Amino acid sequence: MKSPFENKNIVLGVTGSIACYKAADLCSKLVQLGANVDVILTEAAQKFINPLTFKSIAHRPVITNLYDPESEIAMAHVALAQRADLVVIAPTTANMIGKLASGLADDPISLTVIATSAPLVLAPAMDANMFEAAIVQENVLKLKKRGATIVGPITGRLASGLTGTGRMIEVKELIGHLSAELGKNSQLAGRKIVVTAGGTIESIDPVRILTNRSSGKMGYAIAEAARDNGANTVLITAATQLSDPSAIEVIHVENTEDMYKAVIKASKNADALIMAAAVSDYKARLKSPHKIKKGSSNSPYLELETNPDILAEANGAKVKVGFAAETEDLLKNARIKLDSKGADLLVANDVSSSNGVFGSDTNKVTIIGSCGFIEDLPRMSKYSVAQNILHRVVEILKNRS
Ligand code: PMT
Repeated sequence: MKSPFENKNIVLGVTGSIACYKAADLCSKLVQLGANVDVILTEAAQKFINPLTFKSIAHRPVITNLYDPESEIAMAHVALAQRADLVVIAPTTANMIGKLASGLADDPISLTVIATSAPLVLAPAMDANMFEAAIVQENVLKLKKRGATIVGPITGRLASGLTGTGRMIEVKELIGHLSAELGKNSQLAGRKIVVTAGGTIESIDPVRILTNRSSGKMGYAIAEAARDNGANTVLITAATQLSDPSAIEVIHVENTEDMYKAVIKASKNADALIMAAAVSDYKARLKSPHKIKKGSSNSPYLELETNPDILAEANGAKVKVGFAAETEDLLKNARIKLDSKGADLLVANDVSSSNGVFGSDTNKVTIIGSCGFIEDLPRMSKYSVAQNILHRVVEILKNRS
């Protein structure tokens, strides 16, 4: 499984808004992800940003005019539309929304939208009152009914200096939505994948907690890779420092008991449950409602009780994947967990401090299967680890159907 953007033809339409500067960043990120990006600027967009900016980033001619005899759109006016895998208009003004809703085709962007069968994603940016205007809302609804995906606008500071819902969605989040759109026909299309992430937190008193070093990055990478391969993805997370990935249903939990309930419910009809969360095996037997005072004892005693083993007890999903976080006897312990928890796959990672797994963007894992295979992977990004795991999940699902 590769990046969903690799060798994809993406048409980036840019319309006249102060948010045009974000379009340059978007273009750059898409190129870095391996996409071929054709940029079209409306006349109004060119008042905010220079076509040369996009030409320098995308290394392709930028289309600015329907009738420029030198441009591809003048020579073969639907060529871009035909080769597009995705059309994204970011930022999208109220004017462009109105044109698209009405079926106009008098500029290179609206013409391309009418002529393409590729998915259309719009990222509106405008004054909050404009976005709330009845006619704009009516047009947005019309476009949604025709299958367009409209992401944002978000609430924040606007160009006017006021705060309202009119800011273009942040580029990172927009890219998540584009990934989801491109993945819709991929290997996990129509599948439901439930992923857990982060370290659960058990309270001792209102101030003190029991937790672990998991950042959540491994689980988030799996959720994003599942989304990028077309899955309806549910992420159940105890992580506190990561922002929610886009186009994924995110359920925040704190402790093991809450994660247990959320996993049992979400995985009932799931195709796969992948548990990358570092789950606390124990919790304080009695949780003090008040901060425990420093006592006279030099060795205060904390009584613990066992938490449920979520992976062992969750049997709703067709495929179960666990992780083994070990500091010694990696494979031996992973195999014991594979069997005792009834998992189909176990991803073993050495979490000794010298290995730098917690919080890092890379991991080195060995995947073992209940059917006997062992795959030792080199160190790679957590997203690539995720793709390898999902590849195995796809194989198991295929064999079972
Ligand atoms: O979050 P990062 O910083 O990116 O780090 C990633 C990671 C090291 C946390 C991740 O790769 C990892 O190894 N996650 C599993 C950590 C863990 O709890 O391992 P374990 O060996 O204790 O548990 C085995 C499996 O049972 C795990 O899938 C765990 O989610 C599950 N479990 C454990 C205890 C419990 N009570 N219920 C469970 O479901």
